[in-house]
Amino acid sequence: MIPWLGEALPREGIDAGKFARQVLCDPNFDPAGLIVAYEASKPIGLAWAAHRSVPLENAPPDSDRGYVVLLAVHPEHRRKGVGTELLSAAERYLRVRGARTAWVCGYAPGYFLPGVDLAYAGAPEFFERNGYSEVYRPLAMQAPLWDLSTPVWVAERRRILEAQGIRFQSFEPELAWPALEFARAHFAGDWVRWVKEAIRDITLGDDPSRLVFAWRDGARPEVLGFSHYLGERFGPIGVRSSERGRGIGQVLLYETLHAQKARGLRCSWFLWSDDPTAARLYEAAGFEEIRRFSYLKKEL
Ligand SMILES: CC(C)(COP(=O)(O)OP(=O)(O)OC[C@H]1O[C@@H](n2cnc3c(N)ncnc32)[C@H](O)[C@@H]1OP(=O)(O)O)[C@@H](O)C(=O)NCCC(=O)NCCS
Repeated sequence: MIPWLGEALPREGIDAGKFARQVLCDPNFDPAGLIVAYEASKPIGLAWAAHRSVPLENAPPDSDRGYVVLLAVHPEHRRKGVGTELLSAAERYLRVRGARTAWVCGYAPGYFLPGVDLAYAGAPEFFERNGYSEVYRPLAMQAPLWDLSTPVWVAERRRILEAQGIRFQSFEPELAWPALEFARAHFAGDWVRWVKEAIRDITLGDDPSRLVFAWRDGARPEVLGFSHYLGERFGPIGVRSSERGRGIGQVLLYETLHAQKARGLRCSWFLWSDDPTAARLYEAAGFEEIRRFSYLKKEL
C-alpha cells in the first residue's frame, strides 16, 4: 500500500491491513483497475476503479455501472493535473469494460466512504469540474452509549407489539433460514451478505446479539425485521415494508444499541444513511450527524 494514502484520506483510517482487506481481497479487484501516478519512481497519486465481474448476491446486475472507489493525490502534488489524469484513466478502464456511468466511492460491498466527504477540501469541486453531478448527500451519524436508556414510549411500543405476537430475540440457529428468506425477499442488494457473514461469525462464537430479530411465531417463524452491529458500526437495520410504522424499527434499534453497550462499546456509528431515515429513525435515538458526503455520478 502507498504509505501516504492514510494521510491523503485522513478520516478513513486506511492502513496496510485495511487496504489489503478492502481493496486487494475485494471480489472484483483487478490489478488493471488500480492506477498509480509516479514522479521519479515515487507514487504521488492513486485511483481504484472497480467494475463488477462477480455479481452481488440478490442484487440486480449493474455491469453498466463503474465505481471510482478511491482517488487520492499526495498533498504536495495537488493542483497539477494529477487527479484529472488518474480519473480519466479510471474512466477509460471502466468504459472499456462496459460501464456507461461512473459513481464516486459508493461501491458495495467495499466502499470506504459513501461519496466525497464535504470536509475533504476541493474534492467536490474537483469532481464537478470533471463532469460529475451530485445525486444526493448521504450522511454518517454517531450516538454515544454512555447514558443509553430505552425511552418509555419505546418500551411501551414493545409491550404492545409483544401482546400482538411479535417477539424480539437475538440470533439462534432456528432463525437462520427465516432470516435469509426475509433478507432475500425484502431487501435487494448487499443485505443477504451481511446476514450470512453475521451468522457465520456468530456460529463460530461471536455475540448472538449482533443480529436481533423481530419475528412472528406460527407454523414456522416469520421474520419481520432485523438489526445488526459489527463492533461500533451499526447496521444494517430493516423492517418489512408491510410492517413499517408500528415501532418495530425503534425497538430493534434500541436492542442493538444495548447489545453494543453490553460489549463495552462507548458509541455506535454508521457511515451511510439519508436525511429522511435520519429524521424518522436515528435522531430519536440520539444519533447526530458526524459526516456529510456528496454521492456523485457521471455518464461515460
Ligand atoms: C480530489 C483530489 C484527488 C484532486 O487531485 P488534484 O491532482 O489536486 O486535482 P487536479 O490538479 O487535477 O485538479 C483539477 C481541477 O479540479 C478543481 N480542484 C482541485 N482541487 C481543488 C481545490 N482544492 N479547490 C477547488 N477546486 C479544486 C480545480 O478546478 C482544478 O483545476 P485548476 O487547478 O486548474 O483550478 C485531491 O484533492 C485529493 O487527493 N483529495 C483528498 C482525497 C479525496 O477527497 N478523494 C476523493 C474521495 S476518494
